[in-house]
Amino acid sequence: MDRTNASVVTEFVLLGLTSSRELQLTFFVIFSAFYLAIVLGNFLVILAVASDPHLHLPMYFLLANLSFIDVCQASFATPKMIADFLLEHKTISYNGCISQIFFIHLFTGGEMVLLVAMAYDRYVAICRPLRYVTIMSRQFCTILVLTSWAAGFVHTLSQLSFTVHLSFCGPNVVDSFFCDLPRVTQLACVDTYVTELLIVANSGLISLSSFLFLLTSYAVILATLWLKSSAAMAKALSTLAAHITVVILFFGPCVFIYIWPFNTYSVDKVLAVFYTVANPILNPVIYTLRNKDMKAALRHLRTRCLWTRMVAGTSQVTRIISY
Ligand SMILES: *[C@@H]1O[C@H](CO)[C@@H](O)[C@H](O)[C@H]1NC(C)=O
Repeated sequence: MDRTNASVVTEFVLLGLTSSRELQLTFFVIFSAFYLAIVLGNFLVILAVASDPHLHLPMYFLLANLSFIDVCQASFATPKMIADFLLEHKTISYNGCISQIFFIHLFTGGEMVLLVAMAYDRYVAICRPLRYVTIMSRQFCTILVLTSWAAGFVHTLSQLSFTVHLSFCGPNVVDSFFCDLPRVTQLACVDTYVTELLIVANSGLISLSSFLFLLTSYAVILATLWLKSSAAMAKALSTLAAHITVVILFFGPCVFIYIWPFNTYSVDKVLAVFYTVANPILNPVIYTLRNKDMKAALRHLRTRCLWTRMVAGTSQVTRIISY
C-alpha cells in the first residue's frame, strides 16, 4: 500500500461485538455454529444445482452463484471475529483492514447486482415465456454473473480510491468487529467530510439503482401475473415470494446504514452482523425451503450419499471377508 509519511498507524484495534468476557464465549459458540451452517448450507445448494440435471436452469445457476457470494461474504470477516472472541487484544494490520474494506464492498456490490440478474431472469420467465430459452442462454447467464462481479469490483475500487490516500496519525480504535469503512474513515487525521460524502454517494448509487430496478421488475412481474390465470399465478408467486423476501431482507437494513451512516449507536454493528452472518444463512433457507425442485434435489443428494457410503461399506466388508 502506498502511504504518506504522516501515517503512523500500522494496525487497528477492533473492539469487537462486546467487551463482556462471558458474552464473548457464548458468541464464540453461537457464531461458530452459524458459520458452519452458512458454509454447509450454501455448499449444499451449489452441490445440488451442479449434480441434479433437473436444476440445470438459469434460475438455479444464478441461485448457486448467490450461494457462492454468500459464502464469500460470510468468510471475509467472520472467521477472524470468531477467533477474536477468544483474544484479549483484537488487532488487524493496516493492509488487513484495507482488504476487509475491499472484500465487503466487492461482495455486497456483487450480490446486489446478482439479485437484479435473478429478478431479470424471473421477469423473462414470466413476462416473455416464449422467448425465455433464447434470451436466458447459458452464455447470457454467464455474462450476467460476470457483470455482477465486475460491478462489485468497480464499486469497491471506487470506495478504496476515496480511502487509501487518507492518513491515519494516531487514533486507531474501530468500534466494530471488522474494518467498517465509515468507522475507519472517521479515524483519519484529515477533514473527511468530502470523503464521507463520496462513500455514501457511491454506496447509495449502487444500492438505489439496484433497488429501483428490482422494484420495477417485481412490479411488472406481479402485474403480469395478475392478468394471467390464477393457476399460473399461484405457482410463480411462491418462487417470487422467496425472491422478494430476500430482496427486502437485503435492502431493508441497507437503508438504515445509509440513512444514518456515521452515527455512534451500535445499531450499525447489529446490521454488520446481519450482512455477514444472518443474510448468508437466510438465502439458502428461504430458497430451498420454498422450492419443491430444490428440496427434491437435496433429498436426491442425501440418498446418493447414503448409497455411496453403503456401497463403499459393502466393498470394505467384501474385502475384509476375502482376506
Ligand atoms: C454461476 O453461473 C454460471 C453461469 O450460468 C454457471 O456456469 C456456474 O456454474 C454458476 N456457479 C456456481 C457456483 O454454480
